[in-house]
Amino acid sequence: MAFPLQRPRRLRANDFSRRLVREHRLSADDLIYPVFILESEQDREPIASMPGIERLGRDPLFETAELCLELGIPALALFPVVPAERKSEEAKEAWQHDALVQTRVSQLKERFPELGIITDVALDPFTSHGLDGLVDEDGYVLNDETVDVLVRQALSHARAGADVVAPSDMMDGRVGAIRRALEEEGFSRVSILAYSAKYASAFYGPFRDAVGSAASLGKSGKESFQMDPGNSDEALHEVALDLDEGADMVMVKPAMPYLDILRRVKDRFQRPTLAYQVSGEYAMLHAAAANGWLDGDKVMMEALLSIKRAGADAILSYAAIDIARRLRS
Ligand code: PBG
Repeated sequence: MAFPLQRPRRLRANDFSRRLVREHRLSADDLIYPVFILESEQDREPIASMPGIERLGRDPLFETAELCLELGIPALALFPVVPAERKSEEAKEAWQHDALVQTRVSQLKERFPELGIITDVALDPFTSHGLDGLVDEDGYVLNDETVDVLVRQALSHARAGADVVAPSDMMDGRVGAIRRALEEEGFSRVSILAYSAKYASAFYGPFRDAVGSAASLGKSGKESFQMDPGNSDEALHEVALDLDEGADMVMVKPAMPYLDILRRVKDRFQRPTLAYQVSGEYAMLHAAAANGWLDGDKVMMEALLSIKRAGADAILSYAAIDIARRLRS
């Protein structure tokens, strides 16, 4: 009687053999928790489009940091919510030594020295027009002028004690400029996580609500500096540039709609490669789960595992705390 020589189902039949041959696993070590931070001390503000996520004042931020440490999450990424009166055309608030990010970084490093702190280097929370750089009369984002400001911002984060600065702005040449400035100022141990392949994506919608840049941004888009979703080779070019300029880690963002990019980047460069499961990816899974259409816990776990399988060494995810809890139990 004819029979198949190979029966892949044999190893799928039992839990023990599935566990033995599993190629990829998610662990708390893979996760970075992005947090929206407020100037106030006690507030927790819910974000309508991101169920379960809140903007955090100082004390709730400290509690969250402690929880991340307990759960084995290696690092936090900070995103400031800046009141409208402190936004300006020149984004001056971005590099003040006593502004929100700089203050929270030093407070966190003092209390939780072993928790990695990653800062966002980009001007959009600080500009009155919500774009990621300085603009000319036509609203075009100026590259080299913006890079000068990003360098100041990155240095102010390093002085406050940031472990990793993460330029998310997509200006040309900013990684090299930041690396040079960090070395010159004695911050050779501060790492750069470059948002190298950051796409002009509609999946960032809830984030812009969370930090309040949506209102300032109005109808202007970010297509003149973020990548075109139709491109893939260009992502390799962007990653190559950032690595040449001194990036320690590169990132692909968003994650799930761009798994092909993640795989190409990892295969080509074999360097630390991160992915950002962005606000819209989080919101989408939560919305379907809230309707009872998907099993929220299971799809989130599967989404993150898929991102890891596609080549991510670590993932920024708003679900990091939920997932780390589930991995523990
Ligand atoms: C901006 C920035 C954005 C995100 C992180 N940094 C939004 C944007 O480019 O408009 C999005 C993250 C998310 O959607 O979760 N520098």
